[in-house]
Amino acid sequence: MRIVSVVGARPQFVKLAPIAHAAAAAGVEHRIVHTGQHYDPMLSDVFFRDLGIPAPDVHLGVGSGGHGAQTGAILGRLDEVFADLEPDTVLVYGDTNSTLAAALSAVKLHLHVTHLEAGLRSFNRRMPEEHNRVLTDHAADLLLAPTDVAARHLAAEGLAERTVMVGDVMTDVLYQVRDRVQGASSVLLTEPGIEPGGFYVATIHRAENTDDPARLREVVTGLAGADKPVILLAHPRVRAKAEAAGIELTRGALRARDPLAYPDLISAVLASAGVVTDSGGLQKEAFLLRVPCTTVRDETEWVETVELGWNRLVRTPEEISAAITRPAPVPTDAAPYGDGHAAGRVIGAISSAFAPPTSNTDAPA
Ligand code: UD1
Repeated sequence: MRIVSVVGARPQFVKLAPIAHAAAAAGVEHRIVHTGQHYDPMLSDVFFRDLGIPAPDVHLGVGSGGHGAQTGAILGRLDEVFADLEPDTVLVYGDTNSTLAAALSAVKLHLHVTHLEAGLRSFNRRMPEEHNRVLTDHAADLLLAPTDVAARHLAAEGLAERTVMVGDVMTDVLYQVRDRVQGASSVLLTEPGIEPGGFYVATIHRAENTDDPARLREVVTGLAGADKPVILLAHPRVRAKAEAAGIELTRGALRARDPLAYPDLISAVLASAGVVTDSGGLQKEAFLLRVPCTTVRDETEWVETVELGWNRLVRTPEEISAAITRPAPVPTDAAPYGDGHAAGRVIGAISSAFAPPTSNTDAPA
């Protein structure tokens, strides 16, 4: 059986790592197509290196662009790639433009589509990620849900028969990397005035927080008003938008620096007093590491983190500053994101659904 994974953006490389390893362990053929949506080495190459992911078999090199141009460029190039690779299933990840383009391309070629991290919903139809994930779920043949909540969303949309609850593969990779970096010092602790437990880690990159200068200014004001230094791991998008709007990303408590490689990010979160973010993955990583999280959004797909008290949704500068300094959450041993062995179940579910029948000549006499 041959699985072809299509990935393009940073969080997809993290999810790809345990899948690549589980496929190899199960003796399943696995090919990787990188769309090139993310191309900066710190957003792409370092993940392949640090997480031991084999180099992509095909790189489309599409780069940045508007939603239509980027999605269309990927779509236009995949026909030939899939004709060449002949997948038994095309595996797509999460909710980026690369996800939707690959799902659409595969459907049009009558290839089986598997969606990993299916069923997440923000119910905010203004988010590009919400369009991408809803459309991908309805195009896919096999829906691999990370949580019970996600599986329920799929059932509510009439997709229960195509759904398998496998758990969250990000938990797999997070636990492995946590164990690897435990005890090692964070690179952030080499910065002046930064001590263990004496700083916050922040990431902000979503269109809803970056693209409107007035909104970006509010977010920056909230972060700058924190009681301890806030280290902003600045995605190129937030840097570009801040520069264009004349907004200073290093002021008050706020200090901007380049993004971190994945193991360094996990070390930094472990050493921090809390996380402030609009990333989906980081909300969950903070919870799994039992570090309090403040999410600069009106809603989250990872509702369990909020219900268990480890995440708080905020909007205004005052809410941001207040939430960052709130008292520590009540300890919990809840495990809504699985046991760290989801990737093996992903390969098992795909094999059950799509492994080609063994031919008679292969059968034992
Ligand atoms: C994309 C995903 C988002 C995901 C995020 C993870 C979509 C619609 N959005 O957002 O769901 O959470 O990835 O990071 O697919 N840029 C660079 N270098 C790069 C890549 C991007 O400088 O390697 C800059 C460019 O100015 C580009 C901008 O970042 O226009 C936005 O990149 P894009 O890939 O469109 O979306 P992200 O904001 O990264």
